[in-house]
Amino acid sequence: MTSPLRLGIAGLGTVGMGVVKILRSQTDLLATRTGRQITISAVSARDKTRDRGISLAGYAWETDPVALAVRDDVDVFVELMGGSEGPARTATEAALAAGKDVVTANKALLALHGQELAEKAEATGRSIRFEAAVAGGIPVIKSLMEGLAGNNITRVMGVMNGTCNYILTRMEHSGLPYEDVFKEADALGYLEADPTLDVGGIDAGHKLAILSAIAFGTRPDFDGIEIEGIDRVSIDDIRAAADMGFRIKLLGVAQKTGRGLVQRMQPCLVPAASPIGQLEGGTNMVVLEGDAVEQIVLRGPGAGQGPTASAVMGDICDIARGLRLPVFGQPAATLEAAQPAISALPAPFYLRMSLLDKPGALAKVTAILGNSEISIDRMRQYGHADGSAPVLIVTHKTTRTALNEALKALAATDVVSTQPVALRIEHV
Ligand code: HSE
Repeated sequence: MTSPLRLGIAGLGTVGMGVVKILRSQTDLLATRTGRQITISAVSARDKTRDRGISLAGYAWETDPVALAVRDDVDVFVELMGGSEGPARTATEAALAAGKDVVTANKALLALHGQELAEKAEATGRSIRFEAAVAGGIPVIKSLMEGLAGNNITRVMGVMNGTCNYILTRMEHSGLPYEDVFKEADALGYLEADPTLDVGGIDAGHKLAILSAIAFGTRPDFDGIEIEGIDRVSIDDIRAAADMGFRIKLLGVAQKTGRGLVQRMQPCLVPAASPIGQLEGGTNMVVLEGDAVEQIVLRGPGAGQGPTASAVMGDICDIARGLRLPVFGQPAATLEAAQPAISALPAPFYLRMSLLDKPGALAKVTAILGNSEISIDRMRQYGHADGSAPVLIVTHKTTRTALNEALKALAATDVVSTQPVALRIEHV
């Protein structure tokens, strides 16, 4: 057996302790599978005194994660602290400069600084592995980078934030408004410390930026993603969508077009009977499409101790076996700058607005849509209450630019009483 692979683990929260547990409970299995012992040399966390349920007395303790990252008895720096800046970034850079491999679950770090970190790692023949950064326990990075390496990837889609999917499906089943279900999710501990990372679509956007880079050979381009959160989705939209055979999902889509790279993370209507439409609760789903494979669907837990630690361990095992791939599946120097193609692809849209009970009100709405070359596919008006009525419109395919023009004109009329809601309909 070759020499042991020695880890330094920074961050002993849910995921870090999950990794420690697997390393302890599966010691022999891991050694048999990788041909090496995998050991922990040192650990680091903010609070040394906290009871984590397992004694860490056998490992050296470093208060400073940078000191941990550069220790002589550490081969792999396992970064489980999180955050795109601060200690996570500094310690990762220090580890790479000291010639260590890095395993991380940090989506923000990779989405925002992936290119420079990849260049640093590849300059010294080291790797950065980050399976746990995207869709928790689902081995989507491995699928894309290895299993589908023979494909031209045509589209990547997915529901990659379990908290948002929990909120949207819970609203649908309970009939409760967004605000109430948000509070429930908070009480259950589902939300990130900064909840806007979840409900604002940012966490899922980080994940999409990483997948896009691997799928399309472009530098991670988080800033090029059109991001919209779920906080404007109302129970009325969920009910109306269901009524028309759709469900609302925070859906990420990345696709290369003739005009550039489309990347968007937005609430969308998807057919209720599609695999993504059927996704319940906190589960994640990623759909990968390639010219040879056609389509594969991966489904599984997107968060939690076991699933996330499982993904981290997969990366550690690869390094133990000597598998070192370019960070984003091809050398960092060959990754092209992404050309963002905002709203390039036309789509049908769902519109909901409240219309005042005045003669000619509907005519004004349809005229505005017509002036923007938007054709109506379906339309419903429900009964008036308090002088206004909800109107739902499904358009034929149109561009976001045309739609924005129409929304502006609608808001300026004297017949639309609330700001119209517009959600893209995605046929997945
Ligand atoms: N907050 C994320 C989610 C998990 O709800 O899916 C970590 O990315």
